[in-house]
Formats: sequence, C-alpha cells, structure tokens
Amino acid sequence: MENNRRRFLKIASHSLGGILAAGIAAPLVGLGIHPLLKETVYGTEDFINLGKLEDFPVGVPKKINVTSSKMDAWNVFEGLVMGSVWVLRKEDNSINVFSVNCPHLGCGINWGEEEKQFLCPCHGGVFDMSGKVISGPPPRGLYSYDTKIQNNSVLVNYNKLI
Ligand code: FES
Repeated sequence: MENNRRRFLKIASHSLGGILAAGIAAPLVGLGIHPLLKETVYGTEDFINLGKLEDFPVGVPKKINVTSSKMDAWNVFEGLVMGSVWVLRKEDNSINVFSVNCPHLGCGINWGEEEKQFLCPCHGGVFDMSGKVISGPPPRGLYSYDTKIQNNSVLVNYNKLI
C-alpha cells in the first residue's frame, strides 16, 4: 500500500513537472520560431507615395527624398530615407521620376533653372527635361522609375529603374 502511494506521488509529481515545463517552454519556442513562419522583411518592393500631384509644380523638376518603412525579423523602421529622385510634373499632369544619379559615372545631377536642363557637375553631362542626353559623355539619358498616379498621389516603384 505504501509503495503504491509513493509510486503514485512520484508519477504525479513528474507529470506535473512536465506539464509546467511544457507551459514555460512552449511560448519561448514560439517566440523563437515566430519570425521563421511569416514574411519578415519588406519595405522596398511596393510603390512609395511621394506626395500629392499638386505638390509638384508643372514644368519645374523638384528633388525630394524617398522615404519608406522596413522590417526585419524583429524590428520595424519607419520613415527611412531610401534616396532621392527628381520629380517632373508635365503639362498633361503625367509625371516623370528621374534618378538623381548621372548614367555616366553616377554623380549627382542638378537642375539648371536658367538652362532648363539637368546638369552633371562632374564631366559636363547635359540632359533635357525629358531626361534625354544632349551633350557630354553620358552614354544614355537619365534613368527613370516606374511611376503611377493613384488617388491624386504620385507613387514610385523605387526598385524599378527604366
Ligand atoms: S558622371 Fe556625369 S558626366 Fe560623368
């Protein structure tokens, strides 16, 4: 009788210990594998909102920062500056979004207000308003980005150069 009681208590205490250990371990294991079970990195594949169409004057390129959010397995980073672009709103309200980097060797392109042209300070590359190369060593016109206007907002796919 005494042996049965001891045996019962031993089994009961081991069982209870196992249940308590599982209760503590399960959330910890879940916490560890949670990032493996969902998409944990995002941020640059979507169209990014650059602002309202009326924020961009017609016929005058405007240089603005492209900001987005990114997430890794455990952190969300809001409002990260991804880079800059030149935005040109045309008379017909269509939009060109150009890379700020020269297609020759990557220098930063400026807008020449007097010349009404994009100018590269490094080797004299010159581009017209449509981004076409006019003179200098650049082998092609300015790179531009895939763009769309949605709900009166200018959206750019910052991953897709054209
Ligand atoms: S980097 Fe612009 S012309 Fe060379």
